[in-house]
Amino acid sequence: MQDPPQRPLLSRRPSAPLAGSICVPGDKSISHRALMFGALAVGETAISGLLEGEDVLRTAAAMRALGAEVVQDGPGAWRVAGRGVGGLVEPADVLDMGNSGTAARLLCGILASLPIFAVMTGDASLRRRPMRRVTEPLAMCGARFAGREGGRLPLAIEGAGEALPLEYRVPVPSAQVKSALLLCGLNAPGITRIEEPEATRDHSENMLRHFGAVVRVEAAGAGRVIELDGQPELRAADVVVPGDPSSAAFPLAAALLVPGSRLRIAGVGLNPLRTGLFATLREMGAVLAVENARTEGGEPVGDIVVEYVALRGIEVPAERAPSMIDEYPILAVVAACAVGTTRMRGLKELRVKESDRLSATAAMLAGNGVRVTIEGDDLIVEGGGIPGGGRVATHMDHRLAMSALVMGLASRDGVGVDDASFIDTSFPGFVGLINDAIGNGGAPALVAG
Ligand code: S3P
Repeated sequence: MQDPPQRPLLSRRPSAPLAGSICVPGDKSISHRALMFGALAVGETAISGLLEGEDVLRTAAAMRALGAEVVQDGPGAWRVAGRGVGGLVEPADVLDMGNSGTAARLLCGILASLPIFAVMTGDASLRRRPMRRVTEPLAMCGARFAGREGGRLPLAIEGAGEALPLEYRVPVPSAQVKSALLLCGLNAPGITRIEEPEATRDHSENMLRHFGAVVRVEAAGAGRVIELDGQPELRAADVVVPGDPSSAAFPLAAALLVPGSRLRIAGVGLNPLRTGLFATLREMGAVLAVENARTEGGEPVGDIVVEYVALRGIEVPAERAPSMIDEYPILAVVAACAVGTTRMRGLKELRVKESDRLSATAAMLAGNGVRVTIEGDDLIVEGGGIPGGGRVATHMDHRLAMSALVMGLASRDGVGVDDASFIDTSFPGFVGLINDAIGNGGAPALVAG
């Protein structure tokens, strides 16, 4: 395998504010799940608004390799002819999940309860990420996993012939782990019971119901207990994928940081387990209006209208982390422009993302003249503006690359990134979208270099 060429970019203050109405690509979490549940259902599932980013395309390829028919009809419009729960077949070759932790971990769940052998790998970033958090509990269904040191990819998987239902308390707040166990439970008789210590995104639970499974969810302290009745017949069900709130976070932050901006971001998913960033920005003084609030495919959706405003630093409680886990790098950029200090508590899980996002976010800010410290699992950012002038190492991490580019828009001297190519994993078209949002035909602010 050859690594793709790096794509260095420079970002500088735009000549005009951001304006107009934009749409962001489909939700990454929901897109992966739509393809997977479609492949496990009987009949044909039509998906609209699918994210056509690298990560999701890996899931599409994996579902094909497991025997589902996956066809693209047009931009964002896909059809999946599923094989039913337990009906997927042994892949003929290694499954390469690229950069995607969600694809790899959820797929482990699907494979664990099938009587097949499979090998999974990924890029250098994914091969560094912990997999034991899924393989250890999944092994209790009877599956066997053999991986590298620390259980890392490449991973050989021997699925259970007759899987046992799992009963497990997930020790870390992780929707990926929860979802992997639910996917395994689909092909096990009896009830799969999962307890999570803190509520995490519930797209799998919503989509399971949408496809006809019986799922019971009960609150348990700060967390939840989820029960799934095993071996349902999942029936194909069309899925409308909303815009990804984690992608919307970047143009939204750009509008908050560039004086005079006013932007509408249409059709954004507003699942309350995903909107911690919006709550945080409001506490910092942002006015985020939600218009056209509606429900689509069991998920709340709306248009967000955001305007530039001066923000103040705040303390972000650790309990909020699961609902904004992917948004800390961009929040750290926003915090650097606010008045006063922002303390983000309880960011341990950031260390095991596409990069060690806690250290990489701190390095991104420090390398551009912002005062930042890590204390235990907390990130503390001093506001007051971004001098810039640095080049950010993005460590194969799409969200770091986009955060750094937004940072450049608000900086005095501009900000460079070593490699913007990974942005395509979740937000194809990001650079053009930001440049096009610069009003009055202003010059592009993100340029090669
Ligand atoms: C995701 C869950 C989160 C998130 C990731 C997508 C999902 O990961 O960071 O981008 O789709 O379930 P964890 O479950 O590891 O927190």
